[in-house]
Parts: sequence; structure tokens; C-alpha cells
Amino acid sequence: MNKVSDRLNNLSISETLAMTDKSRQLQAKGIDIINLSIGEPDFNTPDHIKQAAQKAIDDNFTHYTPVQGFADLRQAISNKFKNENNLDYAPDQIIVSTGAKQSLANVILCLANKDDDVLIPAPFWVSYSEIVKLAEAKSVIIKTNIEDKFKVTPQQIEEAITPKTKIFLFNSPSNPSGSLYSKEELKAIADVFAKHNDIFVISDEIYEHINFIGKHESIGQFENIKDQVIIVNGVSKSYAMTGWRIGYIGAPKWIAQACKKLQGQITSGASSISQKAACAALNGGLDTVYEMKEVFRKRRDLVFKLLSEIRGIKTFVPDGAFYFFPDISFFFGKSVDKITINNATDLCMYLLNNAHVATVTGSAFGDPNCIRLSYATSEDNIIEALKRIKTALDKLN
Ligand SMILES: Cc1ncc(COP(=O)(O)O)c(C=O)c1O
Repeated sequence: MNKVSDRLNNLSISETLAMTDKSRQLQAKGIDIINLSIGEPDFNTPDHIKQAAQKAIDDNFTHYTPVQGFADLRQAISNKFKNENNLDYAPDQIIVSTGAKQSLANVILCLANKDDDVLIPAPFWVSYSEIVKLAEAKSVIIKTNIEDKFKVTPQQIEEAITPKTKIFLFNSPSNPSGSLYSKEELKAIADVFAKHNDIFVISDEIYEHINFIGKHESIGQFENIKDQVIIVNGVSKSYAMTGWRIGYIGAPKWIAQACKKLQGQITSGASSISQKAACAALNGGLDTVYEMKEVFRKRRDLVFKLLSEIRGIKTFVPDGAFYFFPDISFFFGKSVDKITINNATDLCMYLLNNAHVATVTGSAFGDPNCIRLSYATSEDNIIEALKRIKTALDKLN
């Protein structure tokens, strides 16, 4: 008998995590799987950050923490917003959470009423639409296309806005497309919302430092929508700290207070040791971040070259994050042996079972013509994985 709530029944499991699970199971059977489904840097956390965590334990930072986060960490985040993004968020406008995922859930649960609309450009990060479901609000998906590098236009947003629209939720740099919005593009989007000051813009900037073309631009910089913007960020991707689980928001004070109230009833403050580590990360300069970025840039160029050699793959050079999101619809209807590829999920399963390469279906991200490939893995793995993918795809006719 299944007695779980309707709320839970309506929720999908994260397909990225599901793919990671499936490939781990095959690996456990001794099969050599190359995992391109991973959403985290393959680097270790830099030493100075680990040392700060060790010191936190020795100094007995082992008790409950303030719900909103330690004061020194919120000051470090406030400084980061100022120095790196030229944004003014005082420490009392900042809430630290157990990962940016919790920060996003906090904000959406605090703002969305039942049946409110949340506009989300597709492809989107898997958890957005699921968190919206948990809030009993409705995701309104705005489809973008590969020719525009999957970026939404101000006109598309304008057309999607109705009196029920409460939130616009997007990320730049993007998971899964790797695209990023220029300052001009963000300004044009901000101008749309300046005309609708009852709509909030949640800007997920977790990949800000993995930007191959210049300085990160935040939609929070535009004064005309400043009171409507919530910035979500964290240390997971920039500092290779996914397991430490520290994310944060910068927001108007009333939204920060609402998130504190919610978090106070669910998880309380984030881990004391992780907060001290995050503080060292944010205060420690960006050298390690830039080193990682250069490694990602080389891998990106390699993946692009190898993908370009495969028949039927449509893609572009992504400007940020560590993903490609190629259109693979060319293979729909094609077969080999008794296997026919009808959709992106079939293609991912074919690649997993026949090429022993794990990828993620685009349908998880709201675009069923694509798959997501992560290049957060070594060059050797990339070369071998793309060779296997090419061989498997060339067999389909
Ligand atoms: C776009 C995006 N936002 C947020 C997150 C969550 O990050 P965190 O590890 O801080 O919860 C991820 C992680 O994959 C992500 O890709």
C-alpha cells in the first residue's frame, strides 16, 4: 500500500541523480562506465578551505548555528557581492542555507502562492519545476531554441506574463545549455520586469565563475528592478565544494527574513564546519577558481571538436558552466539490431548500455530533442567517451 502524499506522488525524482545511480550500479558490476552525467567539478576542495574546516572543528564550532548563517560568513558574502558583482547586499539581506538548492526552495516557497505562475525558460535546471510543484504553484515553460543558444528573448517573456505571474526563474551561466546572457540581454529582460513590479526575478548564479568570455553579469545590477531580484549563489561549483552544502541568497530584507523563518522550521542553520570553510573560500581570493576555469575551457574546446566530428549532432560552443546540450533529434526513428531510438531518453539508455557512457536526457531539462553532456571529467575520459559515443551513434540507421 502506498500512503505517500499527493504532493510527493506528483514529484519526479531528479533524473541527473537517477542517471548517476544507474551508472554507479553498472560500475559496481565491473562495467567500465564513463560518466558524463555528473553535475559537479571533478576537482578536490582547495587545501586552504579544508584547513579552515579542520580549524573550525578544533575550535569547537560544533554547535547549532544562527539560522541565517554566521555573521562572519554573511559579511564575507556581502563583500563578495560588492567586490565581484558590484551589488549592495548588507549582511541582513543574506541568508545562508544548506546548498543553493535549499536557497531556491526557500525563496520559491516563501513567494509563490498556490496556483501562482512561475515563468521558467527551457531548457532549465531539473529541480526548478519540481520545487515549484512542491509550492503548489504552476511552472509556465517558455521554450527557447538552439539557434538562439537557448536564450529567452524579452518579447517571449512579455508574451508569457499574465496577471497570475509571480516569479521569473532563470540561470546564467546555464545548466544545462552552458549559455550566458550578456549585460545588454539582461538589461532588456530587466526592462520587461520594471513594467511589472509585482513579479520577482530569481537569478541563479551558481556557475558565475565558470564563464569563458568575460566578467559575470548579474541581473541584480539594474536599479529599476533591484527590489524585485533575488540572487541565489553558493560555493559548490566555484570552489569545488559540492559536498559541503553551502548556498546563499542576497535579497530584499523582507524576503531574507521570510526565508529565515521558513528555514528555522525545517533545517535551522547550515553546518557550522561548512560555514567556516565557505568563509575561507570567499575570503581566500579567486586563484584556484581561475585555475579550474582554464582546465574547463580546454576540455570544452576538446569536446566541441570531438562532437563536431559526429554525424547528426547539432551544437554550439557554450560560453560557461561545464555542459554541452546538443540536439540529437537526427537519431529519432533510427535503429540498430532490435533497438529503435524514439526520443532522447532512449538515446541516453542506448549510450549507457552500448557505449557505456552516462549522459542525461534533455527531457529532464524540458527539451526532449537534446541530451546533456558534462565535461567535469579528465581529458582522457572525454576522448574515450566521445570515441565510444561516435561508434555507437554511427551504427544507427
Ligand atoms: C543551476 C543550478 N542551481 C543550483 C544548484 C544547486 O547547487 P548546490 O550544490 O549549492 O545545492 C545546481 C547544482 O547542480 C545547479 O546546477
